[in-house]
Amino acid sequence: MKKIGIIGAGHVGLVTGACLAKLGNKVICCDNDLEKIKKLKNLQIHFYEPGLEEIVKECVKKKLLFFTESIYQIVKDTEIIFIAVGTPPTEEGKLDLSYVENVTVEIAKSLTKIKSKNPKKKIYRLIVEKSTVPVLTSEWVKKTLELLTPTGIEFDIAANPEFLREGNAVNDFFHPDRIVIGVESKRAKKIFEEIYKPIKCPKIFTDIRSAELIKHASNSFLALKISYINAISNICEKVGADVEVVAEGMGLDKRIGKDFLKAGIGYGGSCLPKDIAAFISLSEEIGYPFNLLKEVQNINQQQRLLVIKKAKELLWNLKNKNIGIFGLSFKPNTDDIREAPSIDIIKLLKKEEAILKCHDFKAIENMKKLFPDLFYSENPYEVAKESHLLIFLTEWDDYKKIDFKKIKELMKMPYIIDGRNFLNNKILNKIGFVYRGIGRKNE
Ligand code: UDX
Repeated sequence: MKKIGIIGAGHVGLVTGACLAKLGNKVICCDNDLEKIKKLKNLQIHFYEPGLEEIVKECVKKKLLFFTESIYQIVKDTEIIFIAVGTPPTEEGKLDLSYVENVTVEIAKSLTKIKSKNPKKKIYRLIVEKSTVPVLTSEWVKKTLELLTPTGIEFDIAANPEFLREGNAVNDFFHPDRIVIGVESKRAKKIFEEIYKPIKCPKIFTDIRSAELIKHASNSFLALKISYINAISNICEKVGADVEVVAEGMGLDKRIGKDFLKAGIGYGGSCLPKDIAAFISLSEEIGYPFNLLKEVQNINQQQRLLVIKKAKELLWNLKNKNIGIFGLSFKPNTDDIREAPSIDIIKLLKKEEAILKCHDFKAIENMKKLFPDLFYSENPYEVAKESHLLIFLTEWDDYKKIDFKKIKELMKMPYIIDGRNFLNNKILNKIGFVYRGIGRKNE
């Protein structure tokens, strides 16, 4: 059992902390958002993630998981300290590393305060980059700690990037494809081998820079794959092919793989868009203009506009038309709307003066904060009532269970745009809908 500190109790930090506690470690999570910590101490989690609440409750009960607002307590009471604070995008698309920097300074100040209980026993701390950071960030963390930490305290830096997918994060923690750890010492490597021993998967120990780069390179490749199939979907529309069929044919080639070949309105979320932008900006800085990734971004942005184009093809003009939006979160099984395509699409529809009614299974409260003036309902039939057009933006499984015959009777016009190609166009056409997918045959 290790004593582990997590600085930053967000999607990454809280999942990592709770799951490390579940593995039997003593974990203290801290955050500078006092409200968030207060809620966590009352076992209230500020975001939805399947399976997380149960683990938090279990580990708190077992006295394996604790919450604090004090970085000093983390540095004093734990030996391995994960930095899991946000690295939000700046205006120019760089990653704002100020939170990482502030936390590093706080760690150094706390290290200065702790006295070694046993003067003969040197204090050791392992500081781990868990947040997604541009390659070379660890140099800054190390330099800051070296400059500000008094002699007599030993520390190592490491990079342990996460590959958690929102809505699947707990499962991804316990069943990852691989664990990547960048270390600079045998001592640090041994600690990670012990921490991750219960997790059966390939563990790649690398230098720190390679570990940092693996994260950005992986996320960017995933986004590239999505923009590639979205580009193919545009060609499918022009030649009358079906992108779902093309993707299936491509994905059977093991070198391509079927995952991340779903065409639609493009990627969103708090990671892919930000990581791509950061990678492009970092590449510029080190003298490599990453034009390929710039095109990945362009294609992704264009996909959102397709929905408006298709809506106009069906309704001619959108002014005062009743349009039902089904799906607000950036993907299913999460309440997260960060960089969700729905935000851009709602803005464009509002500009066309359409009358919008919105549904989602988890994300309504979050979207209300952005667009308080819209009509929201948890009842899809209420959203469909009197609508000229329904636009599906998130492929929640539960949408497949709604009674589309009833939906059609409630609507003024039978138009459906499926932004995620997840509805059954043949059945919908049989019911009498006019179905439009993304790169799909419409019959
Ligand atoms: C992603 C990476 O998958 C994960 O490894 C990393 O740690 C964080 O970023 P996440 O953003 O949670 O995870 O969701 P993901 O499932 O990757 O989907 C990202 C976006 O791509 C979503 O908007 C999704 O709708 C879209 N997507 C995904 C597609 O448009 N097509 C696909 O085939 C797959």
